[in-house]
Amino acid sequence: MSSTPARASANCFGRGEADMPTDPKSFWNGKILGWEECRYGSPDVAPTPFERLAARLSGSLRSRLDRAVALVTPHLPGRRVVELGCGSGLLAERLMAAGAASYHGFDIAEVAVDKARARFAGSPYGTSVCFDVAGVGELPPQGDALVLSLGLFDWLTPAEIDRVFAVGREGRYFHAVAERRRSLDQWLHRFYVHLSYGHRTGGYVPQYHSVAEIEAALRRHRLPPCHVHRHPSMRFGIFVSDLPIGGLDR
Ligand SMILES: C[S@@+](CC[C@H](N)C(=O)[O-])C[C@H]1O[C@@H](n2cnc3c(N)ncnc32)[C@H](O)[C@@H]1O
Repeated sequence: MSSTPARASANCFGRGEADMPTDPKSFWNGKILGWEECRYGSPDVAPTPFERLAARLSGSLRSRLDRAVALVTPHLPGRRVVELGCGSGLLAERLMAAGAASYHGFDIAEVAVDKARARFAGSPYGTSVCFDVAGVGELPPQGDALVLSLGLFDWLTPAEIDRVFAVGREGRYFHAVAERRRSLDQWLHRFYVHLSYGHRTGGYVPQYHSVAEIEAALRRHRLPPCHVHRHPSMRFGIFVSDLPIGGLDR
């Protein structure tokens, strides 16, 4: 799997880097660890009042993490799990504790994979949990695994989304997607992204998708329509899956 050296970032959002790269690997090497800390840890580590406010409003991401675990848990016992865009592996322990047979995390950012490996050094799960640096486009087929991702589809090209379904087509899938909506909430999100970093990442900003777009990708792989899970606590975040994950209020 190819890799480039991690580059230091001025802060968790890469602010202060006039030459902000739009190469996804460099972008995420500079951003992911700070992003995780701000979004799942203390908002106070965010570098500016604006970012601290954004971090405080990140309840939807924490809810996404918790709901993902709750929804896949009944389907985990004995199953191999592959997480794409795993970051530093925050989900791995919870999925293993819920009965997964093994967990393999992939991320394009080596700083995230390094942290994930350090987190699991000496863990009781041994070789049942592993992490590798890989972009979606480099992945081999994943057999009968449950392939899941949170916050990854927002950053993929249509061809990469197709690749996710291609590598997972022998198994099951569970993915979080930012659903395109005409809502104030989403408009504010676009505005935040633009002010925070989008104005200098040359169009490398999160993408929103409709369920119809996801189902078109599924059809290209001769896969049936997906189950969709929405919940107000996730704002415009939804889950799409071939697992029976239910409707609006579960
Ligand atoms: C918004 S973060 C989400 C991290 C984690 N899944 C979570 O929900 O907390 C997106 C993650 O996807 C990774 N990523 C972005 N593009 C990728 C690609 N093409 N292939 C693999 N990973 C990618 C980033 O490095 C980052 O860790």
